[in-house]
Amino acid sequence: MEKQSRIYVAGHRGMVGSAIVRCLQKQGYTDIITRTHTELDLTDQAAVRRFFEDEKPEYVFLAAAKVGGIEANNRALADFMYENMMIEMNVIHAAFVTGCRKLEFLGSSCIYPRLAPQPMTESCLLTGALEPTNEAYALAKISGLKYCEYLNRQYGTDYISVMPTNLYGPHDNYHPTHSHVLPALIRRFHEAKIAGADEVVCWGDGSALREFLYVDDLAELCVFLMNHYSGNETVNAGTGKEVTIRELAHLVAKTVGYTGEIRWDTSKPNGMPRKLLDVSKSAALGWTYTTELEEGIRLAYRDFLENPMRAER
Ligand SMILES: NC(=O)c1ccc[n+]([C@@H]2O[C@H](COP(=O)([O-])OP(=O)(O)OC[C@H]3O[C@@H](n4cnc5c(N)ncnc54)[C@H](OP(=O)(O)O)[C@@H]3O)[C@@H](O)[C@H]2O)c1
Repeated sequence: MEKQSRIYVAGHRGMVGSAIVRCLQKQGYTDIITRTHTELDLTDQAAVRRFFEDEKPEYVFLAAAKVGGIEANNRALADFMYENMMIEMNVIHAAFVTGCRKLEFLGSSCIYPRLAPQPMTESCLLTGALEPTNEAYALAKISGLKYCEYLNRQYGTDYISVMPTNLYGPHDNYHPTHSHVLPALIRRFHEAKIAGADEVVCWGDGSALREFLYVDDLAELCVFLMNHYSGNETVNAGTGKEVTIRELAHLVAKTVGYTGEIRWDTSKPNGMPRKLLDVSKSAALGWTYTTELEEGIRLAYRDFLENPMRAER
């Protein structure tokens, strides 16, 4: 990308999209195009086509999606599939027909099979059955990355995709039932501290292993890949490091300043025992994360405190 290139960031008010905009601005890119959901509904094919014809972006980061935790995904399988497929097909196709030079599609590590060998490499895609609770979302994401690959193969485009692990950071979703584990813990320990509660109950026994990437690190990788990577195979985005949910809970409690007990409700499920991405491909390309988990949680909590409306989303 040139510093004056016309760059469209789809989903710029979301956690990932806003981090990509911050990163582009920090690196001196000046012509960043954005539209809110109200201004442009990306499930509306005709509106998306008109937008691309009018604006003719040269580069596109596709970070708009209908996103949610297990409960939301499982309860609205049809909505998750329809909205995500529509957003992806409309944006990628409109970019293609209006001559966009390069597009980067954001997926998720849930595209990999439920029982994939750990750590999960990019090549384990479509080698086994998906996790049933987010199958609809994963199928939509697989379709998006495959559409990029098929355009490259049939028409010689330069469209790429990146698959992040669990993300956290500024603009995260702290909804009481729809959020992911790390922001959910921040909110619960914060509320317990304010209420003077002496106990917080967490699901499972805390033994599950998970990986977390600070969203501004992901944004750096996204911009890096736009400038330095071409290829049909996706690129994993993670740290390659894992923590137990128990360690994570203690880290969040310490950062938030909650000093009460943490009780583990072992009648509730743990989820997958382990979910870790193999990050050797991004490392070989020359990128590695910089924000350690403890520092990232401190920054995320500061953003949560400075923006009380995050808890209202
Ligand atoms: N969060 C994670 O832990 C995580 C992990 C791995 C991968 N990812 C991937 O990263 C991408 C972005 O996730 P995120 O966490 O940044 O999600 P997010 O915070 O919910 O942001 C998604 C953005 O997309 C917009 N959007 C949704 N539907 C739209 C529509 N029909 N038309 C226009 N805009 C629409 C939303 O706008 P409104 O809010 O106004 O609807 C929002 O700004 C997704 O592809 C996701 O799979 C996220």
